[in-house]
Amino acid sequence: MTTTREKERTRSSHLPFGDQRDSPFYGRDIVSVRQFTDEDLRYIFDVAHEMREMVSRIGAFDLLKGKLLANLFYEPSTRTSASFTAAMERLGGSVIPINEVKYSSVSKGESLPDTVRSLEAYVDVIVLRHPEEGATALAAQYTKKPIINAGDGVGEHPTQALLDLFTILEELGEVDGLTVTLVGDLKYGRTVHSLARLLSRYEVTLNYVSPDILQMPDKIVTEIEESGTPQAVHTDLESVIGDSDVVYVTRVQKERFENPADYEKVAGAYVISPETMKLAKERMALMHPLPRVNEISIDVDDDPRAAYFRQMEYGMYVRMALLALVLGKA
Ligand code: CP
Repeated sequence: MTTTREKERTRSSHLPFGDQRDSPFYGRDIVSVRQFTDEDLRYIFDVAHEMREMVSRIGAFDLLKGKLLANLFYEPSTRTSASFTAAMERLGGSVIPINEVKYSSVSKGESLPDTVRSLEAYVDVIVLRHPEEGATALAAQYTKKPIINAGDGVGEHPTQALLDLFTILEELGEVDGLTVTLVGDLKYGRTVHSLARLLSRYEVTLNYVSPDILQMPDKIVTEIEESGTPQAVHTDLESVIGDSDVVYVTRVQKERFENPADYEKVAGAYVISPETMKLAKERMALMHPLPRVNEISIDVDDDPRAAYFRQMEYGMYVRMALLALVLGKA
């Protein structure tokens, strides 16, 4: 098992670049949004903004030339997996994709600790998505290389929350003073767990709109209560949409239900249509981490307030920033 002290030693003894020891991010794991200071967040968003400008000006550059990323996904993904690949390649690095673990030695019974210990021999950073809450924190104890949580069961999805917050900043210019309404599966949706935690660092009001059986878990509500953030629970979106600056819609996570009949009862609980958007403010952002099933009608896609495809693109800039930071190059 690799202790924090050993990780520290490894960081300091492999220094092919200039002043990376000065970076507070160098060699760090990204496990939960709770690990970031306010200063960290500002820095990540500044670097992400710079990455956006660089991509728009020159497309790709060699900041991470010679660096390797292992994309280790035990659950399906389109955006997180592809955007980490795009981020690494736009920075001049390379990727070993293990997107279908059934074709890896995991199918022979290899443990998560052994898998990450093996990959660290080849790569400089590991991105991990896993169905069990706490898997990234566990894996991080077994590798000296930085490991990034790309979603751990119903736990957290910290890089998604960072990109969600970056989207709010890029779309609306600020976070303080906003009313953010989280809609849908707040029980199993790990993106809303991370996002609510991150938002509670700002002066926001949070609305939770969900069916009774999919409410925000008590442990998160209690945590957010401690920050003093106002929170309100609703079952009806129409009563709060007109006051919302951000409406963040989530998919009901079918794969997390033990009883399929329970899923069927709540699957179509909220559907955002052009009619729903008539109730929303003129200046607001409609967000969704994607994939969507039926929660937002495709007829809403051309509404300028529909930010979900831009949100996905912002994810690449945030992940470029995170990779550069943990590899000591920003
Ligand atoms: N938002 C998100 O995590 O999407 P994927 O499951 O496609 O990675």
